[in-house]
Amino acid sequence: MTNDRNLPASRASAPLHMIDIIRKKRDKVELNAHEIGFVAAGAADGSIAADQLAAWLMAAWLNGLSLDETRALTLAMRDSGEKFSTARLGKKAVDKHSSGGVGDKTSFLVAPLAAACGVAVPMISGRALGHTGGTLDKLESIPGYRTALTLAEFEAVIQKCGASIVSQTPTLVPADRVLYALRDRTGTVENKGLICASILSKKLAAGLDALVLDVKTGSGAFLRKMEDTEFLAALMVATAEAAGTRTVALLTDMGQPLGRAAGNWIEIMECLELLRGERPAASEDLRELSLILAGWMIHLGGQADTAEDGYRRAEAALENGSALRIFQEMVALQGGDVTIFDDPGGFHKPGATCVVEAWQSGYVSDMDTTALGWAVQRTGAGREKAGEPVDPHAGIEFYARRGARIERGQPIAVIYATTEEKLREPIELLRGAIAISDAVPALVPQISRIFTHENAGSYLRNAVT
Ligand code: URA
Repeated sequence: MTNDRNLPASRASAPLHMIDIIRKKRDKVELNAHEIGFVAAGAADGSIAADQLAAWLMAAWLNGLSLDETRALTLAMRDSGEKFSTARLGKKAVDKHSSGGVGDKTSFLVAPLAAACGVAVPMISGRALGHTGGTLDKLESIPGYRTALTLAEFEAVIQKCGASIVSQTPTLVPADRVLYALRDRTGTVENKGLICASILSKKLAAGLDALVLDVKTGSGAFLRKMEDTEFLAALMVATAEAAGTRTVALLTDMGQPLGRAAGNWIEIMECLELLRGERPAASEDLRELSLILAGWMIHLGGQADTAEDGYRRAEAALENGSALRIFQEMVALQGGDVTIFDDPGGFHKPGATCVVEAWQSGYVSDMDTTALGWAVQRTGAGREKAGEPVDPHAGIEFYARRGARIERGQPIAVIYATTEEKLREPIELLRGAIAISDAVPALVPQISRIFTHENAGSYLRNAVT
């Protein structure tokens, strides 16, 4: 039997050949789950060579993946290695994933907040990528904190305190490890189906009952076009739901850094303040988003009837100190030195510091958050090449919020860099990235849209047809 392009059709029993699968994808013929599974398994066990995988990735990037192909790839990648079992935790396991941003440190708040309200939080996180910071790099600014736990150690930490934040293990989703590295080298990262499969395969391999996705919009987001962001969010919800994981996606604003600090230790410091019940004005957006995300986690984890009830429970856990206790316990269980939490400011020892003052009076009308993210990276807080160390003390504190009135000479940011030399580029980037004007800018809502199992499918059907 042949299809309309004269290519061999595959059956579950027939032997598969990577060359046929590449040619089909090249010629815009939809692949079946059997063929997609062959690609994922071959990537994971090394039986398909990198040149053929790269050719397939480019064909997939150029011609796109259908909803069925995306679902098949997600499941095949999820099943390509070891999986974490949440069965012994005795509670619903819920995680949050963010599509990345500048100053996005909600993980350090939502994990202990949800855990304090009776939800298990197995959180497998990543490192700094491009202009965005990495949860693991921030946690490793705490001396001794171990992110590379075995799955047994990961489970033991969650059993004891309800939450654990770790790095991906070598055996979890090996197909993504191979395919992601190839995508990075072949210009095939920015494809919605490939991004969805990459992110969800890792989350689903962690055995989650539910997942809250924080998909960023605005000048600091990876995807800039609103329709692309909406499509990716709906695609991830529909794909995870089809795999049996209750999922919700919130589209949230990254048109300015989230909260005050962007860097490594300074982000942990900001979270400690909030966990101690303080309410600095520059951290209000971070507090609010963290409570909303935690509210959804608590609701989907069966500990609140609605996300709003979950928000109220999370706020109580913030105010009564239970989330702080869980965060400290988690850090200690993972080897971190919690004595530095007694004097967070005293531990902060940047190589060089500079206060940036407003160069004119007016309203902060716009921020290029991606450029601000690069400014943070250039202080020494991020890395130029994979594997390089990061400076735990580097970063930027932003005091000017979008829409705020500022006067010439008023401090709008403090830059902490590894050396005096490393202050120069961030100062220039920062001055170019913040617009000050006479007109009061329009307000941007923190959450612009929510996708759930109820609306994601119909959104996708309308978007595809
Ligand atoms: N993060 C991932 O894990 N995968 C992608 O493809 C993009 C972001």
